[in-house]
Amino acid sequence: MLLRLIYITAFFNIALGYVQELSLFTEIGLEGNEFIFRSKEPDITAYSALLRDVKSLCYKGHWKGYSATNYTSDLTFTYTSVSGTQVCLNRTIPETLSFRHHGPSDPTAPSVSIYSGVPGNAHGGMERTFTGLAANNFDFVPTALILTGRSSWTGFFNNDFSGNSTCYSTAELIGWVYMYGNVVRSIVQGCNPIHESDYFDVDKSL
Ligand SMILES: *[C@@H]1O[C@H](CO)[C@@H](O)[C@H](O)[C@H]1NC(C)=O
Ligand SMILES: *[C@@H]1O[C@H](CO)[C@@H](O)[C@H](O)[C@H]1NC(C)=O
Ligand SMILES: *[C@@H]1O[C@H](CO)[C@@H](O)[C@H](O)[C@H]1NC(C)=O
Repeated sequence: MLLRLIYITAFFNIALGYVQELSLFTEIGLEGNEFIFRSKEPDITAYSALLRDVKSLCYKGHWKGYSATNYTSDLTFTYTSVSGTQVCLNRTIPETLSFRHHGPSDPTAPSVSIYSGVPGNAHGGMERTFTGLAANNFDFVPTALILTGRSSWTGFFNNDFSGNSTCYSTAELIGWVYMYGNVVRSIVQGCNPIHESDYFDVDKSL
């Protein structure tokens, strides 16, 4: 009975959630000092000495680093493990002044994040994350989306959930979409044939 309970607990731990995480080590082979980040860091300047010392790291989730603050400018790294499996590497980090995971800390619940984009990187700039059934009045036309929790979303051309629409759907815990000029000003959770949406298979672009 106890064994069975442990098994069930372990199963739910895996099935019900993980926290996006970036662990940095000052020596190769995950040795030396370890610094664990679970938050978005718009200005990591205070840690620049630490980042210069990094020689190995582990990650879970979908992380991107930038050479300027506020997620603008060039990418310095992209680390992706959408399933929540921890991946470890011997790696140094180029000079990085901001980094973040995409979307919510726990990507197992349905959400959609929109990005304002910066030149050369559609997932840079401002990020807004929605977990409700519908969202509009974005401050910008998104250049990219991140979907979490194996969810589907319908994006509409107009701000009032009307106009032509596209269904975005992923079977993964984290899926990403580049908009390529496709205009979405409002969004609802789920896809429904009544909207006669175009279909965008997020997982095919992964
Ligand atoms: C990192 O380097 C150490 C020391 O050379 C080695 O033991 C380890 O297997 C390496 N790890 C990876 C993931 O390559
Ligand atoms: C980063 O963005 C915040 C909030 O928009 C702003 O207050 C801050 O001045 C920005 N910092 C830099 C260095 O651009
Ligand atoms: C979507 O609707 C807008 C406004 O009615 C129109 O300008 C645009 O060409 C339409 N796009 C497609 C792919 O039908």
